Formats: sequence, structure tokens, C-alpha cells
Amino acid sequence: MRLYFQESGSPQLPTLLLVHGFPFDHTLWNAQLEGLSRDFHVIAPDVRGMGQSPAEPDAQITTMADAADDMVELLDQRGIQKCFYGGLSMGGYIGWEFWNRHADRLAGLLICDTNARPDSADAAENRRATADKVVAANSTAMLTAGKAKLMAPSTLEGFPEVVARYCEMVEKNNPVGVAAIARGMAQRVEFTSRLAEIDVPAVVICGEFDALSTPEYMQGLAQQMPRARFVRIPNAGHLSPMENPEAVNQAMRLILEG
Ligand code: MLT
Repeated sequence: MRLYFQESGSPQLPTLLLVHGFPFDHTLWNAQLEGLSRDFHVIAPDVRGMGQSPAEPDAQITTMADAADDMVELLDQRGIQKCFYGGLSMGGYIGWEFWNRHADRLAGLLICDTNARPDSADAAENRRATADKVVAANSTAMLTAGKAKLMAPSTLEGFPEVVARYCEMVEKNNPVGVAAIARGMAQRVEFTSRLAEIDVPAVVICGEFDALSTPEYMQGLAQQMPRARFVRIPNAGHLSPMENPEAVNQAMRLILEG
């Protein structure tokens, strides 16, 4: 599986692998590719079947473990042994599996706007139904319907270009790849009971208006990880890296302090 990616910064710097959420692509991290290039060798891939990474023609399901293994294949292709792994929301779900399956490749974790829970039975059912609808419509446009819940009021009112970029990311996505990863998220396993084992430097980042992964929930999650610190991002919701990139970049640099 060859993943599409963008990179910035010198390969001599520590690698920061940034994995986007659902149903987005690597452009979620444009401001990190630009703003963190003096601190890290930043690599932002598109998850299998999303953005510009190809979907297998008959793809049915991409599990979080498949996606984590793809990331390691990408590191192997680039000759990189260890990375700081950063993931937003679905990128965070993939991050738990990256730790679970490839802890020897992990220098630290940057977990943005995510959770360690599995889907409830109802949520999983809804996700599978949505996956089927996206494939039937051959379009992901319906997935922008919940945007008012995703972003901070200040983004929705004051930054139409961020809202437009969000819509573009979602609408350009490949319905087959998006459906496959949605089915994979529906069957993801829980990591709450394993957070205390994640003994690597970690920064847990959350937009103050994130209604999906609330700051209160994420602060509690950070408290369960032995080496994590929590950073609340002002004027941001679930899409904190796009909504308040300066504050997210500053929080991400903290990982270099160990
Ligand atoms: C995301 O931003 O990746 C999604 O909110 C994840 C999800 O649908 O659970």
C-alpha cells in the first residue's frame, strides 16, 4: 500500500507523523506542515482510500490496525525507525493501534480531539448505514451536514475559509475508501483500560469547544496516561489544528521536552 503524503522540514530532525481524522485528508495539517518544519521532519499522509491515497477497488473494510500498519510501512519506505505520532480523532484511534502493534517505532504520542472508547452498538450500526449510503450515492457530500457541531462558534462566524476548506476536504474524498474506514471505526476496540500502560511522552490536545471529544473527557484521558500533559486550545472545536494552528503548534512542540 503506497500512501500519498506531504512532508516538510529536514530529515535530520525528529520525525512527526500526522494522521488526519474522518472523513478528511492530510490538508487538515497544512498549518503544521508549515509551522513546525523547523522543529520536526513532518510527514502527513492520507490514510488508505482517503485523500489521494488509493482505495483497493473492492475495499470493504479498513481497520484501525490496517491503517496503523500502513503507517509503519510508510516509515519503512522512508528508512525512518522512530517517530512522534500525532493523530486527530480517527487519527487518534489509529494511534492507539500504532502503540499497541508497533510500540518500538513510537517516540511519543500527540493525541488531538479523540477518544479511547469503542462505538456503542447503535453508533456502529449508524456508521455502517452511512457507509452504505455514501457508496450508493457515490458521494461524500452528505458528511458535511454535521459541520456546525464540529467547529467553534468563532470559526463558523469569523473564518469562512476554514469552513470552506473543511467542506472541500470532505467532498473530494473517495466514497469507497471513506466507507471502508467508517466500517473499520465501527468495529474498533476500546483502549480506555490500557491508557495506564502507554508509558511514552504524550501531549493530549483538545479544542475548548470540541463537542465530540470534550476537554473534560480528554483531560481525564490524559490523567490516565503516565507521561501525558493536557493542553486546552482556545477558540477551537474538534478541528483544532485548522481552527487555532498557532496554539496547536505550540502544544505539539512540548513533546520535544519529553
Ligand atoms: C473524526 O474527526 O475523525 C471523527 O469524528 C471520528 C469519528 O467519527 O468517530
